[in-house]
This record gives sequence, structure tokens and C-alpha cells, in this order.
Amino acid sequence: MSGFVRGGGGWECDGVPLAAMAAEVGTPVYVYSAAVIRERVRRFRAAFEPWPHAVHYALKANSNLAVVDVVRAAGGLVDANSGGEIEVALRAGFAPGDIVFTGVGKTPAEIDRAVELGVKAINAESAGELERIAGAARRRGTTARVALRVNPDIAADSHPHISTGLSRHKFGVAIGDARAIVRDASRRAGLRFTGLHIHVGSQMLGLGPLRRAAASVVALARELADDGVKLEHLDLGGGLGIAYDEAGGEPPPVDAYAAALVEATRPTGLTLIVEPGRAIVGPAGVLLASVVDVKPRADGTWFVVLDAGMSELMRPALYGAYHRIALVEEREDDVVTCDVVGPICESSDVFGVERRLPLPAVGELVAVFDAGAYGSAMASNYNRHPLPAEVMVDASAWRVVRRRQTMDEQLAGEVAASVPRGAMP
Ligand code: LLP
Repeated sequence: MSGFVRGGGGWECDGVPLAAMAAEVGTPVYVYSAAVIRERVRRFRAAFEPWPHAVHYALKANSNLAVVDVVRAAGGLVDANSGGEIEVALRAGFAPGDIVFTGVGKTPAEIDRAVELGVKAINAESAGELERIAGAARRRGTTARVALRVNPDIAADSHPHISTGLSRHKFGVAIGDARAIVRDASRRAGLRFTGLHIHVGSQMLGLGPLRRAAASVVALARELADDGVKLEHLDLGGGLGIAYDEAGGEPPPVDAYAAALVEATRPTGLTLIVEPGRAIVGPAGVLLASVVDVKPRADGTWFVVLDAGMSELMRPALYGAYHRIALVEEREDDVVTCDVVGPICESSDVFGVERRLPLPAVGELVAVFDAGAYGSAMASNYNRHPLPAEVMVDASAWRVVRRRQTMDEQLAGEVAASVPRGAMP
């Protein structure tokens, strides 16, 4: 079995003890399993196989070059959400035709770059943006391939911060306005209108919202066909959840997810695009941290303080997200109730409350699971923490795929106010 398993000497990743990697690289460090990423890309591709499709991995979940490279080698394409993510995709070896470009606020420079490259589709967020894309294309004497992001006003039944498909959310154009906007855009010089795009939310554990969203966009595609607009694809976004909590919700299997989307799309005959992020890389990564303090509390429980916090993994602080936590050298003795917390000066800097763990000693290693998606990608320098190291295990060998940021790298580009102007470091 690939991935993270409990071995004789503690938790391992594809046969490599987590403790061995932490001993060499230090903590905090993210550890990824190339085999798990590969397996998950393949599972998505196989599940959609009966229908013309493309799996565009959402780079925002984790755009470490090594991760993106594994996705590419496994046959995944990409969804970029910024100019930066487009550049990462190119450096990882993707061609412009492998990239769909989404994003609620594309700058003129980002639009121009996407037009210059000729990406597969720019998912436009408004009529105004379509006009700006057309302008950029005309200036370059070319035609931009565009799709329209539609807001279907459907609840994702997920955390409010990661639900995106209601009319009060900033994403896309209201579905009622879409037909007229597409009709207009499809006649505009500089644009080749290719598809419709939706993404209703993330970490979804039910298929209902996806089915409803797909149905509404399929209805729109039919209306557009009546208007003579010939689309190429429907991009139904990402959003399939993962099982963070063994006691919590389970996502539907990828096969059921794919079957539901294919069934909805079938009447249109259009190619199906999906943009999974979390479901590809979430379970493929853990965050390893060291215990730096253990403090008793008046009620008999404990604080276990780690050297990683919300600066390395923001999800628990930002969404109250649950991540499984274990000692890397797991044992059954001395189990206590503890809050596992980070070192950041915020009371929200908590990885887990009332967890049952063997009381660790200072210096022991802790693994935070399912941290491959939206972990390192959302890390920051808050409290001047360096961006963490990242390691990838592939076929029982491992290597550092991002070294820990140095203090000089962190300060590069900053200048003290007392230094004379023009004397950049
Ligand atoms: N496509 C679009 C247009 C998106 O906005 C997203 C995620 C995805 C695809 C990928 O969704 P996924 O398959 O990963 O659910 N930071 C949050 C998640 C934010 C998701 C934003 N959009 C978290 O840590 O849960």
C-alpha cells in the first residue's frame, strides 16, 4: 500500500521512516508521497475514461514544482489561478494548451500573458473581463479562447469560506445573465467562445450540489446551442472532498463522482473538464513538526506546543478544519487529553483540541495528516517563520523538493528606513 502507514519503527511514507527524513532536514517539514499523487491522478482519469474529458489539477492546492511534475507525468493537466501559477505550470513542462486560467480578479498583465500564450481557456468572470480579454487579443492580432464562469446560486453544503456558488459570492456571473453575455461575447472579434465554467465549493462530501450545478449549466449550454453558439466543453470545477476525520464524513468514491458528472453532461455531447485539487494532493502529504513544550493545565489536560503553527498550516485556524494528528513513534502508553498548538502569538493557532495522544516528550515528532493540499501553499512568514522545507518520497527514495527558506531569503528585497534611497540590498 502506498502512502503513510504505521511501521515497526513509527510512521513511514512509502517505506521511508518519517523520523529519518526529519532527522536530516529538520522540522517543520512537509513530506509528500509521489505514489499517492500519481495514483489519485490516475484514478480521476480512469473514472472519466468513458467520456471525452480532461483532468486539470487545481494548482492552488499545492504548486510545488515536484508535485506539479508528478501530476504532469501522470497525465494530469492544470488549472491556474494567477499569473504566478501559469508560470509554475510552464516551468513544470506544461504547454499553454494544457492550462485553463481561472481567477476572480485577473490583472491586465495576467490577461495579456494568458492571451500571449494562448492558453486552452481563460475562464472569464464578467462581461467586463470578456471585453478586456477581447481587447488584449485584438492588440496582439490574435483570438483568445474563453469560457464564462457562471454562478449557479447553489449551496455547496461545505464550510462557508470555501463555498463559492451562491449569488452572494463574488464568483462568476449570475446564471440568469449568462445567456445574453455569451451571445454577445461569441460575436466579438478577438474571442473564441469555448465553454462554460462553474465551481460551487470545496471539500464537498455529497454529490447533490454538484449534480444541481451541472444540471443548471447543462440547461444553459442547450439554450446557447439554440442560439447557435457552439461550445467545446463544460468545466465543472473541483470540490470533491477527502476524509480528514476517521469519525467524520466520507466523500463519495471518485467513480461515483465521475459517473454523476458524465451523466449530467451526456445530453450535451460536450467534453468534460474537472479541476480537482484537494482530492489529488490532500492525502499525499503530512506536516511533520517537533514538540517544543509540554504544559500541564489546571484541569488535568495538557498543551502540546509544536514548532509549526498557523504560519505553516493555516487550515485549522482559518476554517476550524480537522486534521488527524499522531506521534510519529506511536505508542499506547500514557494517553492524555491535550490541545496540540503552534508557537504563533494568536489564540487561534491550534491544530487540534482535546486530542487523545500519548504524552510526548519535548523533541518528539508529531505528524499532521492530510496536509498535502492548502498546507504549504498557504504558508506564510508570519512571526518571521521561514517557509517550511518540503520533501518528496518516490519509490522508497526521498529528496528535498524545497529547502527551508533562509533568513537572508526572507529579508531579500527589504531595506531599512535609515539606509539611503537607491541602496537596495
Ligand atoms: N477550481 C476552482 C475554480 C477553485 O476555486 C478551486 C478551489 C478548485 C478548482 C479546487 O478545489 P478542490 O478540488 O481543491 O476542492 N484553502 C481552502 C480551499 C480553498 C479552495 C478554493 N478553490 C482549504 O484549505 O480548504
